[in-house]
This record gives sequence, C-alpha cells and structure tokens, in this order.
Amino acid sequence: MSMSAGKARGSAAAAPITALDGELTIVPSGGTLGAEVRGVDLSAPLEEPIVSRLRAAWLEHLLLLFRGQKLSDEQLVGLARHFGEPHIVTFFDYNRAGLLPEIEVISNIVAEGRAAGGGGAGELVWHTDMAMFEYPASATVLFGEEIPPAGGNTRFSNMYAAYEILSQPLKNRVEGRRALFDKGGGKLGYSVNSTENPCAVHPVVRTHPETGRKALFLGRRDSGLIQGLRAEEASLLREQLWEHATKPEFVWEHQWRAGDVLIWDNRCLSHSRGAFASNARRVLRRVTAKGEKPV
Ligand SMILES: [Fe+2]
Repeated sequence: MSMSAGKARGSAAAAPITALDGELTIVPSGGTLGAEVRGVDLSAPLEEPIVSRLRAAWLEHLLLLFRGQKLSDEQLVGLARHFGEPHIVTFFDYNRAGLLPEIEVISNIVAEGRAAGGGGAGELVWHTDMAMFEYPASATVLFGEEIPPAGGNTRFSNMYAAYEILSQPLKNRVEGRRALFDKGGGKLGYSVNSTENPCAVHPVVRTHPETGRKALFLGRRDSGLIQGLRAEEASLLREQLWEHATKPEFVWEHQWRAGDVLIWDNRCLSHSRGAFASNARRVLRRVTAKGEKPV
C-alpha cells in the first residue's frame, strides 16, 4: 500500500511513481506533502548516491515515509546523521537508563512507576521541533516501534504553501516580525525550571536555507510572544496564522504502523498528534538533527 494509509488530503490524484533507480522508488502521497520511499533497508549503511537521492526527495516532498523498517538506536542515530548533527537534549523527565544521548523516546508507557518516554497519550498541539533553541531542528527522524490500534496519528502542515497563499494583509503583518519560541510549559512531561526552559527569538517567516523558499515559522500553537505586539494582539495574530496554516488543503495525516520511519523537514512543516487510548501502548524513537539559525 502506498501512503494512502495516511489520509492524503488535498489532491486526490493517483500517486505517480516519479523516480525509479534499481530498487529505490519514490511515490508521492498525492497530497500537499510527503512521499513514500520503497526499496531501502535503513538498517544497512546508506551510501552515495542513495543519500543524495533521499536528501533531494526530502527537500522536494518535505517528508519521507519508509515502511517495514527495523532499526537499533545506533542505526537510527546513523540515519539521522545524514540529515544533520543530532541534538542532545537534556531536559527530559522520564527514565533514560540505557538510552543513547541522541535518542528521545515518545511514549505513554509507565514502567515501575516511571515514564518510559515523553508525550503521554493526549493530543499534542501544532508545533515545530526544537524551535525553542537558537538552532531548531532541520530533520526529525521518527521510528514507530509500537503503535496503538487506533489514534495517535501525526498531522503535518505545509508551511511553504501556507505562506504562499496567506492573504496580503496577513503577509504584511508578519513580514519582518520576530517571535519568542518556547516549549510550552511542561506539557510534554518535561520538568520545567529556569535552567531547563530554553527559549529563542526567530522570524515568523523564514527562508529555507536549502531551497530558498519562504515558509511560515510559528513555533507552538499554544505559546509564544510576537515582538512589537501587545500580548492580546500577538495571541490573536498567532491564532489567525495557525487557523490559516492548518486548513485541510495544507495538511497531510499519517496513520502509523509499526516499522514506519518518517523523516520530515521542520523548516517548512509543522505537526501535531491526535490522542489515543491511554491504556494502549505507543513507543516511538526519535532523533532530531540540529539545523540552521532561522533567517
Ligand atoms: Fe514534535
């Protein structure tokens, strides 16, 4: 099955196969973003020209899906390194015994009284990964190890398209604007204190360093101040921008299966997660690659 297991919104055209080189096949979702890559075993070392093909496809489609993968943490980190230097994040509030410093676990499981990962089972609001840092994530590499029978889908929004179709009055309001990005105050199960609550100031419209295209860059839907605006004005503008950027035509939704690997570009995508039953098991392993300072 192609990416149709994730709901492709927007164009419903049949997904054409756009590249065929030996075994490696790239099948666009037919929606506003995303492509499935077939014929690659990510547990094996990736060599040129495969890495270049994957990076080019990632820049073109913004998100790549690989089905049926089985990855050790070392292999997951090695894969992420093709997309950038991994972030080492230190403010987690879950049991990290035995984990590599580059690996984050997204899970609702509690074992022996301690959380085995962050994120819980609830809805996770729209955001872009690591935007609270001076150098936010370029790529997120996310491996679905255990997936609940229902719920927990991840939705992605194409922030290039959202910027391009933004009304001129809203474009005028955001042009040159900067905003304070934070991590939303402990909602992901992280402990919050003055040393563990990083924040950074970034432009609300950023230019992608590799494609040269402009994209909305909004941090989290539930937080963040916009410079030059009073808190109520900033809150209203932020909500107008998110309302626009998450319209169905900009959104593609992924329904996870165990063994899925997603690699997406946070410089031009935002994402959110739907809730799932708290008594179901969900375990995803993540590495984020450190990107550029947004401009
Ligand atoms: Fe995220």
